[in-house]
Amino acid sequence: MAILGIDIGGSGVKGAPVDTVRGELLAERFRVPTPQPSDVTSVVEAVAQVAAQFDGFDRVGVTFPGVVVDGVTRTAANVDKSWLDAPAAQLFSDRLGMPVSVLNDADAAGAAEVAFGAGKDQAGLVMMLTFGTGIGSALFLDGTLIPNTEFGHLELDGHDAESRASDRARETEDLSWEKWANRVGNYLRHVEMLLSPRLFIIGGGVSKKADRFLPLIDIRTPMVPATLLNNAGIIGAAVTAETDAKAASPGGVTPHEAGARVAG
Ligand code: BGC
Repeated sequence: MAILGIDIGGSGVKGAPVDTVRGELLAERFRVPTPQPSDVTSVVEAVAQVAAQFDGFDRVGVTFPGVVVDGVTRTAANVDKSWLDAPAAQLFSDRLGMPVSVLNDADAAGAAEVAFGAGKDQAGLVMMLTFGTGIGSALFLDGTLIPNTEFGHLELDGHDAESRASDRARETEDLSWEKWANRVGNYLRHVEMLLSPRLFIIGGGVSKKADRFLPLIDIRTPMVPATLLNNAGIIGAAVTAETDAKAASPGGVTPHEAGARVAG
């Protein structure tokens, strides 16, 4: 049995079954556009539509672009406000008929990068930042996630930082790479001053074009582009669902592992 990972983004809801040991997709991912408005009922249906494309999984991990505490969504900066205080894990689980873990999208992407990608074996404080519709942050100390940090909403020059330095700001204001890199550089220097991380991992769709903007940014902290790109959220969601399953099962053995042992 595999675990299904589903990533709810500003423009698409994407999913695929995941090999949580290797950190790889087991099938090509399936995507539907994020419903507009992105209210709870429509997004739950979009997630169910993605899940219906696959079989052979018994647990699901879902990312959400906001703070998630104990399966309840607490903020909704870039999605419909009906998500404020919604019992997301319960709603998905009722609709899909199996356990569902829900976590912040940047935390999921960071978890995947730290386990399998650009943050593998990195000691100390590592910060993943995703530049997309908003700016997401994920902070790790010696590989352990400190969940639900919201450094995309730091105030910078009197503005919410993500409104100036997200990839959406680059697109909607039609900024040149130089202008946008200048804003991202100011933002990163601010985060650097506050936290002194060992490493910044730069993620989000725009990290595919890292060569266009990273060389224009002058900061002291080393910066690397994310390596799992668009699949980091899906993989991180599934890995987290696996960890939750272990925590919930007696002896810390998941049904998958127990099955593997009997079979093997
Ligand atoms: C949200 C974060 C999210 C980020 C990226 C921000 O607006 O507050 O929770 O991780 O966007 O989607």
